[in-house]
Amino acid sequence: MNKGIIHVGASSTDIDLFENQYPVPEGMAYNSYVILDDKVAVMDTVDCRVSEKWQSRLLKALDGRRPDYLVVQHLEPDHSANIGWFASQWPDAEIVLTAKAATMLPQFFSNIPFKIKTVKEGETLSLGTHTLQFILAPMVHWPEVMVSYESHSHSLFAADAFGEFGATTDDGTDDDDWVSGARRYYYNICGKYGAPVQTLLKKASALDIQTIYPLHGPILRSNISEYVGHYLNWSSYTPEQKGIVIAHASIHGNTATAAEKLADKLRARGVEVLSIDLTRTEVSYALAEAMDHEALIVAASSYDAGLFPPMENFLLHLKSKNFCNKKVGIIENGSWAPSAAKVMKSILETLKGVSIADPVVTIKTTLNGQSEEQMNLLVDAMINK
Ligand code: FEO
Repeated sequence: MNKGIIHVGASSTDIDLFENQYPVPEGMAYNSYVILDDKVAVMDTVDCRVSEKWQSRLLKALDGRRPDYLVVQHLEPDHSANIGWFASQWPDAEIVLTAKAATMLPQFFSNIPFKIKTVKEGETLSLGTHTLQFILAPMVHWPEVMVSYESHSHSLFAADAFGEFGATTDDGTDDDDWVSGARRYYYNICGKYGAPVQTLLKKASALDIQTIYPLHGPILRSNISEYVGHYLNWSSYTPEQKGIVIAHASIHGNTATAAEKLADKLRARGVEVLSIDLTRTEVSYALAEAMDHEALIVAASSYDAGLFPPMENFLLHLKSKNFCNKKVGIIENGSWAPSAAKVMKSILETLKGVSIADPVVTIKTTLNGQSEEQMNLLVDAMINK
């Protein structure tokens, strides 16, 4: 525990979908911190669904003191919903934020006479013993984002970076495996923005970081280099998991059966395979696995002269999160006029560094000698470098 830095965030355990799209069966933590020193700084606010709890925890932590600053690292509503309440409580406190955030603030709160203090890259704010240094982090995950390094405690207040899905306890801990939760969080929240995350990591590499205070998930108090190592991999689109993901979307089961047969053939050749049924797996989970494995095979039914929607949804999510630099195999199924491969190729061909394995396998309803031979060739193509 760093003396003078108090976690006042709050978790929601009844939320079903974060951002109204990502399932969070373990809930969601919205973190906020107070730094008590000669001056008092509050680091971000929280989502509206946990306002009451945050306000109560904040007032308790302040114990009658008045904040001098509210540091707004990120304006997205899951962190900014209570800025108006804060300003109404402490109208003399300065709202510390980037110039970009200052231009955006009226979009979120109009007609509030905020006392604004904009800060630039590298600018510092002394609180007494603690000193905050601001580091701009545009597009991690919005353009106005900054993070803050506190040099006395060697702490990085990391905004959305290093976050995780799931609730935490009131002291900012949880029992979850950070890597698996943080991986799905990273690829779905920041996946598109690998280059900006790399830029931030480069800046952070010059700092002695001993604690990370993210805006979601647990406070990271040890093994900082391990967490940073994962972020270096994920942000450079370097898969951490060996083997091939086979993602299939089957209407009546024949495509799924073919996909499982393909998985058996690959495993028989010593390849690790993760098979994912896109009709039963929520897309954020499937996306994280596809991003983090070495290669991908997609197998889908044709549908309405196009592509079965669960696969189309999956591929469009991959595209939006910058899926890249991988070999991808394609299997289509169609009983009279197969059309799935054409649509899958049209999406995959737009992705940087994606090579489509030859041949594309076409199945007419069920596997036969010809399509199985194509499948054998696809196995060779996926294994050969
Ligand atoms: Fe947790 Fe980009 O907000």
